Amino acid sequence: MAYMNIPWIIFFIQIILLLLPCESEAKVSAIIVFGDSSVDSGNNNFIQTIAKSNFEPYGRDFPGGTPTGRFCNGRLPPDFISESFGLKPIIPAYLDPTLNISDFATGVCFASAATGYDNATADVLKVIPLWKEVEYFKEYQKKLQAYLGEKKANWIVSEALYLISIGTNDFLENYYALPNRKSQFTVPQYQDFLIGIAESFVRQIYSLGARKLSLTGLPPMGCLPVQRSTNLKDPLQCMEERNRVALEFNGRLSVLATKLNKELPGLKVFKADAYNLLFQLINKPSNFGFEVAEEGCCGTGLFETGIFCSRHNPFTCPDANKYVFWDSIHPSERTNKLISDYLLPGLKSLFL
Ligand SMILES: *[C@@H]1O[C@H](CO)[C@@H](O)[C@H](O)[C@H]1NC(C)=O
Ligand SMILES: *[C@@H]1O[C@H](CO)[C@@H](O)[C@H](O)[C@H]1NC(C)=O
Repeated sequence: MAYMNIPWIIFFIQIILLLLPCESEAKVSAIIVFGDSSVDSGNNNFIQTIAKSNFEPYGRDFPGGTPTGRFCNGRLPPDFISESFGLKPIIPAYLDPTLNISDFATGVCFASAATGYDNATADVLKVIPLWKEVEYFKEYQKKLQAYLGEKKANWIVSEALYLISIGTNDFLENYYALPNRKSQFTVPQYQDFLIGIAESFVRQIYSLGARKLSLTGLPPMGCLPVQRSTNLKDPLQCMEERNRVALEFNGRLSVLATKLNKELPGLKVFKADAYNLLFQLINKPSNFGFEVAEEGCCGTGLFETGIFCSRHNPFTCPDANKYVFWDSIHPSERTNKLISDYLLPGLKSLFL
């Protein structure tokens, strides 16, 4: 009669094989996002600022072709990352009044375009300062507890992946653009000042229960189309000095991550560095199926972002997938997808 059992054995082996990959898959309760326009999914739609993008042609490759307030033709890295972890494919903006805590339980975005580590950066275009994003996070936790009970809420907070992407505006919108910080700090001093804020920010969300963090470094800022356009020394070339500053800053961020990982029990910070990938995309676009890296798709591609990127602009490119940049500052959706895929192994390692 033993042969009767063979189908059953095969059945059980199949079940075990099906279960195995699930068990080794990272389990992430939610994606929680802090930062600037690189990750803002639409919070600025609901505040008084000109730093907005909730109009066409933004979002033209987003599901439904809707402009959402993302500074992109489509989705942003947190959307792709969330989807890759088996969570929802769209991270909602916390300030969206049509949504409530039931929409935010597995993913929420507190980011605000044009903000920075430095409070003074958020002041420039009257957007949400980083400390206020943390206040929203506290409010979120309270709502989550009321909605799901304390135990489940605390589990979500501690098993969430925190994506933090911020810092470019401190240099481009503030330090290099305005006189105040430049008169107070040298570049290395300003970097230290920002790193100090990054450290207290991480300590603060750690004290609020965050454990698995991805701290995104700066992109090659000097190669953003808007920076090339203002390069008087070497027209349309990357501004090497800005790239050097970005690399230095990223180095300091790595030192900070190592220090905090040693010091704070249970904390895992991943220094998510997309600098090198972006640098490759910019310098060898054709290796990645792109045709243009010096200009954005929107408008002339040289300076347009936000309100200057208009659907009436006759120069906007027909296919943003051929462009590394969507507007003069922000990556195209395809670039965002490549960045997300590149960072994913490091992000998954936080949950092993
Ligand atoms: C959230 O909104 C939905 C749809 O509007 C509603 O059915 C639900 O009761 C709300 N949930 C909470 C917790 O407020
Ligand atoms: C930024 O502003 C907040 C609120 O006023 C304040 O608590 C914080 O200390 C400020 N940060 C810095 C680095 O000055």
